[in-house]
Amino acid sequence: FLVSSREMLHKAQLGGYAVPAFNIHNLETVQVVVETAAEMRSPVILAGTPGTYSYAGTDYLVGICKEAAKRYEMPISLHLDHHESFSDIRQKVEAGIKSAMIDGSHHSFEENIALTRQVVEFCHRWDCSVEAELGRLGGQEDDLIVDEKDALYTDPDAAVEFIRATGVDSLAIAIGTAHGMYKEVPRLDFDRLGIIRSKTDTPLVLHGASGVPDADVRRCIELGITKVNVATELKIAFSDAVKQYFIENPKANDPRHYIIPGKNAMKQVVLDKIRVCGSEGKL
Ligand code: 13P
Ligand code: ZN
Ligand code: NA
Repeated sequence: FLVSSREMLHKAQLGGYAVPAFNIHNLETVQVVVETAAEMRSPVILAGTPGTYSYAGTDYLVGICKEAAKRYEMPISLHLDHHESFSDIRQKVEAGIKSAMIDGSHHSFEENIALTRQVVEFCHRWDCSVEAELGRLGGQEDDLIVDEKDALYTDPDAAVEFIRATGVDSLAIAIGTAHGMYKEVPRLDFDRLGIIRSKTDTPLVLHGASGVPDADVRRCIELGITKVNVATELKIAFSDAVKQYFIENPKANDPRHYIIPGKNAMKQVVLDKIRVCGSEGKL
């Protein structure tokens, strides 16, 4: 069964760990994430961008994830990552999804609040939790491209006001991470995170975790991050392994063969990130 992210994140916050959110795209990536999380008894969030839902089909993804939850007898949160439109979210929530992110970070503060509040009012009637974003991450997530110079760190007092005005269940904050990999190791604003955490009890979300050193992710969790988003490192591991397989087996054409090394490589990243999040055994 598909669940909202609310309880998972509250439990994580009390327990001092984070729930990992892995971006998935198809049957195989769902299989890898859920199988690994089940083996490690870790709570998990499966995230899909709008591009992923239109690629795979919302009903297919919902169906696959429901089956995965049944198979492993564990709650799974299938999440809408970086969704930008109310009507898009409404459709998908009506299709059975219980965890949504409304990304209004490119709007003005007031417009972000208005849009987020509209989504919260609707979603809460459907027992769907809502994540919003304040501040703006650099880098590229699917079609969403933000130039580094347009990235904006989250203002702590604005975060408090935003949470109060919208009633969101969790908040993505910008403290120096970016989507995708980094040219140089990012320098995160831990002080800012600490200040935001001291001003609110709302679960805080770290986007752009690919390429962030494990020690820095752990420090963010110590300082109060309760959800860690990972996308790019999974894609790189998967595709690199499949490329290597084709180099070694240029005549290969059976997906049941050439996809396996991709899944195995991705599984290793999922394992590592669950360990970094400290969510092993927390199911
Ligand atoms: P990365 O691609 O840097 O892992 O970011 C993932 C993310 O924030 C998904 O919302
Ligand atoms: Zn993100
Ligand atoms: Na990143």
